[in-house]
Amino acid sequence: MKNIAAFVSGSGSNFRAIHKQTLNGNIPGEIVLVVSNNPNCGAITYAEENSIQIFIVNNTRFSNPDTREYTLLQALLKAEVDLICLAGYMKLLPQNIVQQYKNKILNIHPALLPDFGGKGYYGMKVHEAVLKSGAEYSGATVHFVDEKYDHGPIIAQRKVKILDTDTVEALAERVLKVEHELYPEVVKASCENRIIMENNKPRILEYNEN
Ligand code: GRF
Repeated sequence: MKNIAAFVSGSGSNFRAIHKQTLNGNIPGEIVLVVSNNPNCGAITYAEENSIQIFIVNNTRFSNPDTREYTLLQALLKAEVDLICLAGYMKLLPQNIVQQYKNKILNIHPALLPDFGGKGYYGMKVHEAVLKSGAEYSGATVHFVDEKYDHGPIIAQRKVKILDTDTVEALAERVLKVEHELYPEVVKASCENRIIMENNKPRILEYNEN
């Protein structure tokens, strides 16, 4: 069993999708900590309702960045976190955490990276840009996290076909549905130690390869 920390800033639907699969045993892990910069988001309400430990990290609570980063790392270490899942977390992760948890931090992005990622590409802005580009496909990407936004090695992607009739909202909804399937699958693979690095690229091992 792995100890998972979920980092959230918004509604937390991906976090909830992962949490459900830890509860039904499909993911051999437990969400032991939820970290957020926003104490008033939907994800935090859900964590409270489900008695999951919460850690709020923001400028209001810790005005000194060094203290903030140190205290967050201590909270992760104290909870014996093995895996960090960013799920709609709107802040850049501090260096000390990226270094401590190399290849143990996952993020989900609502497009096919490396396209439509990086600073400024969040929420509906991503889908707006995809539709404007005239691309044939969008999709979801799960990747390891490094010190830049949406930049680390890609672990898994799933495509979503763009329809002529698509609106930003309709595309966002279909991509989110795929995110709720893909992210738990990758978290499961990570908890089962099935993500390996091959020539610096992550690959998910199938069960018959183990
Ligand atoms: C998702 O679209 C995810 O890809 C992106 O932020 C959104 C979070 O949504 N990183 P939710 O909070 O999981 O509902």
